[in-house]
Formats: sequence, structure tokens, C-alpha cells
Amino acid sequence: MLWRRELNPILRGRLLAQEQGCFGCHWSLAKTEIPNPGSRWGSVPRFAEGNAMMYAESRGEIEEIIRFGAPRSWRDDEAAAARLERQRVRMPAYGEVLSGPELRDLTAFAAAVERVDRPADELAARGRDLARANGCFSCHGVDGSGGVANPGSLGGFIPGFVGGNYPDLVRDEQEFREWVIEGTSARLESNPLVRYFWRRQRLSMPAYRDLLDDEEIDAIRVWVESARAAAVD
Ligand code: HEC
Ligand code: HEC
Repeated sequence: MLWRRELNPILRGRLLAQEQGCFGCHWSLAKTEIPNPGSRWGSVPRFAEGNAMMYAESRGEIEEIIRFGAPRSWRDDEAAAARLERQRVRMPAYGEVLSGPELRDLTAFAAAVERVDRPADELAARGRDLARANGCFSCHGVDGSGGVANPGSLGGFIPGFVGGNYPDLVRDEQEFREWVIEGTSARLESNPLVRYFWRRQRLSMPAYRDLLDDEEIDAIRVWVESARAAAVD
């Protein structure tokens, strides 16, 4: 039940990307890219390296790439279409095998991991940059989408910020600050069942005391709130 409540478009997209073999091409080992002679940039882009803007100008184009294997502008251009025919590795057209909701979830994941959408609100955008720079997403999932394994914990995974478990863990601004500064929640710690799981789980929340100041923590919280509002599906 906890797991189902955690689901959100980005997390569903990540799980589907794993199932659909996306990481075979896009997330190669040892931080290298697969060579792709004849293609526009000579290799298969690795996710999360800031490559998206070389291929797609918007979230809409990301969806076209996933759906048709290339943005419409490439398919409509004779030279680009001929290049696609020649190159060694081709992006598959997933629109032929997946449903509309599945393609939307993959787009949400790819746009998040590729950093395509910048929050319109400046404070929220700064909050997301801070969360990225401080490594929050390595545990809390791409853009706080959750679901990273945490054996021994209550749900078996680390909750994110945009799923359904978050409101039980963070009730207000004060509790958000406490999590980030102390790495815990006094309210939850007073529950014996929660304490039992916290002793057993492999990963715990680090205390960011001295690393983040009040203004930075507040910017992250403002971003979390805007991301929660945007993730409702
Ligand atoms: C067989 C290898 C292959 C697989 C599997 C694959 N792709 Fe691609 N993908 C490519 C290539 C190659 C490009 C670059 C476009 C080009 O050069 O033709 C690309 C480009 C992209 C881009 C735009 C570039 C970027 O870095 O943002 C996105 C987004 C993308 N793919 C998403 C996906 C998703 C999601 C899946 C799984 C559902 C997937 N791809 C599976 C080969 C692949
Ligand atoms: C080493 C992994 C790790 C890192 C890095 C990490 N966290 Fe956590 N975080 C956790 C774990 C584990 C929990 C506890 C969840 C539980 O067991 O109830 C947690 C809980 C939280 C919570 C409570 C609500 C929720 O949905 O998880 C917040 C808020 C939070 N972390 C924010 C942050 C922020 C902000 C950063 C970066 C500054 C960060 N975390 C970095 C592992 C991590």
C-alpha cells in the first residue's frame, strides 16, 4: 500500500524505462556514451548529462522522440531523415508499442532526468537547483519522485517528495526544516513502530545542519510544494 501511494508520473516513467530497455542505450556504464557513427553528434546521449537541448527544445519534442524515434523537425527534413537511416543506433519508436498514459509517464521521467522544465517561480527553481547540487535526488529519486530501494525500512524504499506518503511524513514547514536540519522527525520518532524500522533500515536521512542555511532550506521547501502541485495526475 505504501508503495502504491508513492507512485507518480516520474517514478512510473522510471520503472517503465527500466522495463523497456531505455538504459541499455542511455545510461551506459563507466560514464561513457555508446559510439554512434553517422548520427548527428556521433554517440547515443547519456541521460542526465545536460544533452537534451542538443536534441529537443521542449517537453513536446521529448515526447515526439519517444513516440516516433526522432523529433518531427528531423523526420520532415530530408537530410536529417537520410542521416537517421545511416546511423548505427536508432532510437526506437515506442509509440508503436506503448499506450498514451505510458508515453506520458516516460516523457515525465525523461523531461525530469534531462532537466527540460525549469520551474517558472524563481525561488522554486533555486530550490530544485539546491536539491540537485546537494545530492537529495540520489536518495529521493529524480526530482524527488521517490522509490529508491531501502531494505529494512517500513515500505522497502525511500519516499520522495511528490508521492502520497509525503503528507504523513511532513505536516508543515517546521517538520520539513527538522527533517533537513536534524535528519529526523521528533513526532515520528515517538512512535515505537517507526523507531523499530528506523533502527533496521540501511539508509537514513543525513542531517544537513551547517550545510544548508534557513533561506536555502526554505527555497527547497517552496520547490517541493510547487512540484507536488504539478505532479497531481
Ligand atoms: C537502441 C537504442 C535506444 C533505446 C533502447 C532508446 N533510445 Fe532514446 N535515443 C537513442 C538515440 C540514438 C538518440 C539520439 C537521437 C539520434 O541521434 O538519432 C536517442 C534520443 C533520446 C532522447 C533525446 C535526447 C536526450 O538525451 O534527451 C530521449 C529523451 C530519449 N531518447 C528517450 C528514450 C526513452 C524514454 C527510451 C525508452 C522508452 C529510449 N530513449 C530508448 C537510442 C535509444
Ligand atoms: C543518503 C540518502 C539520503 C539523502 C542524500 C537525503 N535523504 Fe532525505 N531521507 C532519507 C531517508 C532514508 C528518509 C526517511 C524516510 C523514512 O524512513 O521515513 C528521508 C526523509 C526525508 C524527508 C521526509 C519526507 C520524505 O518524503 O522523505 C525529507 C523532507 C527529506 N528527507 C529531505 C531531504 C533533502 C532536502 C535532502 C537533500 C538536502 C535529502 N533529504 C537527502 C534519505 C536521504
